[in-house]
Amino acid sequence: MNRTVTEKLAGIITPLYYYDVDLLKKTVETAKSEADKRGYILHYATKANANPKILKIIFAAGFGADCVSGNEILRSVECGVAPALITFAGVGKTDTEINTGLDNDIFTFNCESIPEMENIDRLAEAKGKTADISIRINPDVDAKTHEYISTGKKENKFGISAWDFEKVIEKLKILKNLNLISLHFHVGSQIMDTSVFVEVCSRVNSFNQWFKERGFDLEHINVGGGLGIDYHTPDKNPIPDFASYFAIFEQNLKLYPGQKLHFEPGRSIVAQCGSLISRVLYVKEGKTKNFVIVDAGMTDLIRPALYHAHHHIENLSSNGAQKIYDVAGPICESADCFDRDVHLPETKRGDFIALRSAGAYGEVMASQYNLRAIPGSVFSDEIPVKECEINKI
Ligand code: LLP
Repeated sequence: MNRTVTEKLAGIITPLYYYDVDLLKKTVETAKSEADKRGYILHYATKANANPKILKIIFAAGFGADCVSGNEILRSVECGVAPALITFAGVGKTDTEINTGLDNDIFTFNCESIPEMENIDRLAEAKGKTADISIRINPDVDAKTHEYISTGKKENKFGISAWDFEKVIEKLKILKNLNLISLHFHVGSQIMDTSVFVEVCSRVNSFNQWFKERGFDLEHINVGGGLGIDYHTPDKNPIPDFASYFAIFEQNLKLYPGQKLHFEPGRSIVAQCGSLISRVLYVKEGKTKNFVIVDAGMTDLIRPALYHAHHHIENLSSNGAQKIYDVAGPICESADCFDRDVHLPETKRGDFIALRSAGAYGEVMASQYNLRAIPGSVFSDEIPVKECEINKI
């Protein structure tokens, strides 16, 4: 990470989320232009980072939104998304949230169960509307990622499985306020093994054919998100290889004439532009371990504690000789350790520590455990003008 950033951050309260706006814009432009070349439609997965400034940049570039709550729909609309480009997923949509979707005339509800279809039908009828829906299919594909972020196996709570399709078709005959327009898939997140996407394509092909043979001319196929990013060497791969990713679908998916292909990228758009910046509070030198205790904790970036996820850690202030440290936060949990045996230049109190690739599932997953404050966010294009107190540590 650029060390001049450190100088700019000198007077700012830590921990904080730092976002590199240029990188975000370049990533957004690359993804959009690679998608446009192939006629693909992108719905940014708002859950990855719902910071208003980030959403505004992404929606200004023409992305739609993939939302999983009523509040995500409202925030996305406030930040400029076209409601006709909003998909609404989630296994537990409440009546209020469904009504928010109906009131905003969103593109589609991704239905995850037959009881949910019945409920959307009921609420749509009450408003005199027809809801466009997708069936979220559980294709029973192993995403080969962490079990907590795998969603496409039959034992996962997500989607409707193949053995229920006949029932779905029967229901659709009765539920007059639903209009099936699409099939939706999302098998998991941080997928690095591209053979997973090839397998998804082959499953999509057979499900697409199954519905076609039963008289459904579906205009849309949505293959969700999931493209992984390089957490180990973020500076080598700041922008994911969207061209190769889309090429997999181009080569393996058999769309019917006129069918449009949709994606819901989250992490791949925002992860690399964000870092969690903290300051070193104490260096504890032990017999077998040296600990660097920073002022950020698992409350600010829960991924290492929850998924044993790796985030590249840098000391932005020191050029000293390399030493080995465990880098931990101040929370009263042993899981509050960002990484063990990290090679860092000799580190001292007050140094800036960056936890890289924190733009996705960082700020949005922050909690107030231990009654901590949620960190603020700072954007690369506004640092010099931002008024901040000095954090006296
Ligand atoms: N579409 C659906 C229906 C999803 O459930 C998700 C993510 C996405 C799209 C976006 O997936 P992405 O492109 O970001 O992989 N908190 C976890 C990740 C949870 C992902 C949940 N669903 C983490 O920090 O790794």
